[in-house]
Order: sequence, then C-alpha cells, then structure tokens
Amino acid sequence: MRITISQIKQMKQKGEKITMLTAYDYTTARIVDAAGIPLILVGDSLGMVVLGYESTIPVTMEEMLHHTRAVVRGTKQAMIVGDMPFMTYHVNTDDALRNAARFFQEGGAQAVKLEGGVNVADKVRKIVECGIPVMGHIGLTPQSIYQLSGFKVQGKTPETARKLLKDAQALEEAGAFAIVLETVPSQLASLITQKITVPTIGIGAGAGCDGQVQVINDILGSFTDFVPKHAKQYAKLADIIRDAVTEYDKEVKSGNFPTDKQSSSIDEDILSELE
Ligand code: KIV
Repeated sequence: MRITISQIKQMKQKGEKITMLTAYDYTTARIVDAAGIPLILVGDSLGMVVLGYESTIPVTMEEMLHHTRAVVRGTKQAMIVGDMPFMTYHVNTDDALRNAARFFQEGGAQAVKLEGGVNVADKVRKIVECGIPVMGHIGLTPQSIYQLSGFKVQGKTPETARKLLKDAQALEEAGAFAIVLETVPSQLASLITQKITVPTIGIGAGAGCDGQVQVINDILGSFTDFVPKHAKQYAKLADIIRDAVTEYDKEVKSGNFPTDKQSSSIDEDILSELE
C-alpha cells in the first residue's frame, strides 16, 4: 500500500519531518522508493534536468505522462505526485480537471501539483472534489519565471509576504493536502507553516517547514549547468560518471575490456568445423 494523504497530514501533526524528492525514470525511482522517501514528485523540472530545455515552460502533458508512468512502475510505497505543466490548468476549470485526471488515469500518479495560490484556488477545489489529491506550490513558481523577472526570493516586502500567506490559506481552504513553498524567507515560511494545518514542503525556504523537497539531480551532483543556492550536493555523480566513462573508453581502446569474464565461448570443435 502506498503512502496516503492522511499519513502525510499526520506527519505534520506528530512533528515528523516529511521528505520529498523528484524522480523522472524507473531506475532512480526504484532507488528512492527503496530508501523510504514517502513522496516522489515527477517535477516539470525534468524539462531542464532531463530534457535540456532552458526552463520548465516547454514541458508538455505527453512528456510528463511518459515519465510519470516510468516512476510509477519503479515504485511500491511512495506517493507519486505528477506536476501539471504550464498552461494545462490555467485556461479554465474543465481543462484543469481533465488534465489532472490524465495524471491519474494514464500516468498512474496518486496526486498532482500545480503552481499558484488564490488565482488557482477554484481549480484546486474542483480537482479535489473529483477525488484527486492536490499539492499546491507558491513562492518562486518557475512557470511564471518571466513574470517574476528571474529566480528571485519571493515574499520580501510586506505586500508580497501578506500575499503569500493569503495564497497558502486559499490553497488550504480549497483542499490542498500539502503546499510547496519555494525560495521564500525562512521566517515567513515558518510563520505560514504555523498558520495553516496542511504540511508545508520547503525548497529554499528554511528548516521551519514541515518537510523538504529537492531536485534529485541537484543533491546527487549530476546536473552541472548550475547549482541552486538551496541545494546541497550529497554526492558528485557527474565526476563519478565522467571518471567511469573515461576509464571505459581507455579500456576499450587498450583491449582491456571486455575480458573473458564479460564474454562467453563455444566448443573448439564447433569452431574448427567452421574454419
Ligand atoms: O518541478 C519541480 O521539480 C518542482 C520542485 C522544485 C518543487 O516543482
């Protein structure tokens, strides 16, 4: 049985920290699931760290569904959250509902995430009413990166701080089961966390949130285009991969790979018959 939204909500009540990581493929998802991470986000960050786009904006429903299915196949326990891409929930509520349902029916996800607060609350309410758990996402919302004029800390002025609190409350009221707070001052994130009953999952929002989320490529050090300030590298996979690939290249060229260990043989008699 996979983790449920009531278990996630209980973690906040018990003061247990919630860990969430992104994953985009079967192999990685298997490892993350086996490590006991309760929430796996198939983030639209895949546009940048997997597909090489400059932002998350070009990501399509088809790309998200393709990767969501792979992650679902690789996991048994974690709740899989599918990230709704740009313009798949903005036009109207029917559209939002239909696309959320695709993550459920075609992707096999157990929840969806979408960006926005007060402005998307009506869509969140409708999706939740239809039985699909929704995770909110406020603060630095990468799908609005051009409107926000870049990857900047959000909520630093009295008006924007007040707006973020209102956004969080609107999402809670609409039925979101958790809310991502991205790149928000730590004190504000802690205040929002105290003022709402649903768990907050921070990324660049300090230790006062109920949980933390990171892009897996950032914590593993495999994505090297840039390292966000909020990320800590627990490994340097890019270096490990480069060293392994270089070693492989050398051994192929020198004839040291493959050896008998990686090869098979047939009877000498059969060979001599062919000669
Ligand atoms: O797409 C993503 O990976 C995200 C997380 C950074 C929260 O939205």
